[in-house]
Amino acid sequence: MSVLLIAGSPSERSRTAAFLDAAGQRLETRGALVNRLRVRDLSPQALLLADFGHPSISQAIGRVARADVIVVATPVYKAAYSGVLKVFLDLLPQDGFKGKTVLPLATGGSPNHMLALDYSLRPVLQSLGAKNILPGIYATDAQVTPTEDGSFHLAPDISARLDEAVHLLITETLQTGLAHAGRFAPVHFSQVRCSV
Ligand SMILES: Cc1cc2nc3c(=O)[nH]c(=O)nc-3n(C[C@H](O)[C@H](O)[C@H](O)COP(=O)(O)O)c2cc1C
Repeated sequence: MSVLLIAGSPSERSRTAAFLDAAGQRLETRGALVNRLRVRDLSPQALLLADFGHPSISQAIGRVARADVIVVATPVYKAAYSGVLKVFLDLLPQDGFKGKTVLPLATGGSPNHMLALDYSLRPVLQSLGAKNILPGIYATDAQVTPTEDGSFHLAPDISARLDEAVHLLITETLQTGLAHAGRFAPVHFSQVRCSV
């Protein structure tokens, strides 16, 4: 079962990427094959001019196509997901996430835009044909803090949320093989958590 982590921040030293990588490390620990794609590493000109034929774009589209599970992470910019992520998603085929399970993650400066994952990113993931979109996790900058060694520290509460999400991903998708053939069981409203 292969997982593609898509980092949607333009920043080199990125909280979002660190948050995403923490998810990736947990997935690797649970036995998933994890690949990483940073949109900021693709050709900026090809992204902006929608150059589908550019090698970096066609390779990235191929990596998305080969993944069973997508974990996509974005910083909140102007109350929505990042423009960098948008220009990449625009280059995917209309059914680019068909049959895939997707876990959305976001970081934001404050809790005020914690619903951005649901009102801005989720409809796009749905339109790309994602089969299952897990409840997203939103972390504030106060929950993903820089450390002296140049990495980032996750606050215990957000770390626990990530553990739960990865457990859900593994048990419901990877181990049961539902990524190929089935659906998630309904999630009771009392279990839905979308904020910090
Ligand atoms: C251009 C820009 C716009 C931003 N807009 C918002 C916003 O609307 N709401 C919010 O909560 N944080 C906003 N932020 C803060 C970022 O979402 C936050 O610092 C995030 O963790 C940055 O992630 P990164 O380090 O991966 O780039 C904005 C930051 C920038 C640079």
